[in-house]
Amino acid sequence: MVHPDLISLGKHTYYMPDAANIGVYVSGTDAYLIDSGRDRDAAKRVLRLLRASGLKLGGIINTHSHADHIGGNAYLQRQTGCPIWAPEREAYFITCPELEPAFLYGGFPHGGITGKLLMAKPSRVTAVFQPPGSIEETPLQTLHLPGHSISMAGILTPDGVCFTADAFIPQDLLERHRIPFLYDVKTALETLEHLRRVEASCFLPSHGQPAEEITEAAEANRRRILEVTEVLLKLMRQPVSPDDLFKLTVEHFGIMLNHVTYILMRSCINSFISYLLNENRCTLSYTSNSALITGDVL
Ligand SMILES: [Fe+2]
Repeated sequence: MVHPDLISLGKHTYYMPDAANIGVYVSGTDAYLIDSGRDRDAAKRVLRLLRASGLKLGGIINTHSHADHIGGNAYLQRQTGCPIWAPEREAYFITCPELEPAFLYGGFPHGGITGKLLMAKPSRVTAVFQPPGSIEETPLQTLHLPGHSISMAGILTPDGVCFTADAFIPQDLLERHRIPFLYDVKTALETLEHLRRVEASCFLPSHGQPAEEITEAAEANRRRILEVTEVLLKLMRQPVSPDDLFKLTVEHFGIMLNHVTYILMRSCINSFISYLLNENRCTLSYTSNSALITGDVL
């Protein structure tokens, strides 16, 4: 009997609701986790629920390497010796988590950005996979959902549940965060399109509730991404430095800055600028002391 704190999504699929949901797929007496939660506390709780259900941890499948998805890896692997699977290009960040704040910040990370929100404890990825495909030794299928991170995977269970990771965020979070965090805008838009065609009886985003269909949420995310590009293009009609563009954009969207949101938004807006440069919607030039971005060059 599976513990009632693990919410049923399908015949063999459950999840533990949390700030970052933890998926659970049961195969015989083994349970496979889809992500491990944001920290050791979440990991302790899910392990207790598995044990109370008479289940053994068969392994963790990480959808991507962000700290709130891999935060329980180290504890669970230390306690059980479980295998960890991850998309190949995400695995580098899981085994060497200081890469995450360094990558976002663009230099050696200071103490304000090396807490558990951005940097998990290191864990050992025992096997990598390349989505889409299957995960060896498990009955799970993977979807290729890049964009939010470099090589994020979704997970499809045999009983028709799709774990969508952070490919989209529900509308209430979209209103709160204003700009969804993206690494690659072009592939994020393609991923939203791809997700609409995935057949599943239930979809679970990492941050939110299960839903039978996600068209509206995916469309809201797409519209917000396009809105951000339009705002940026408007702000760069006159040549503008990256610093001023960042300042004007966060002002426009009313984003409150702190150590964490500053580097997340800085990195995300840089990704939007790269997208517009690669689409030939703006150019980059340099003066003696600054870079200048100029939009709408077509
Ligand atoms: Fe994420």
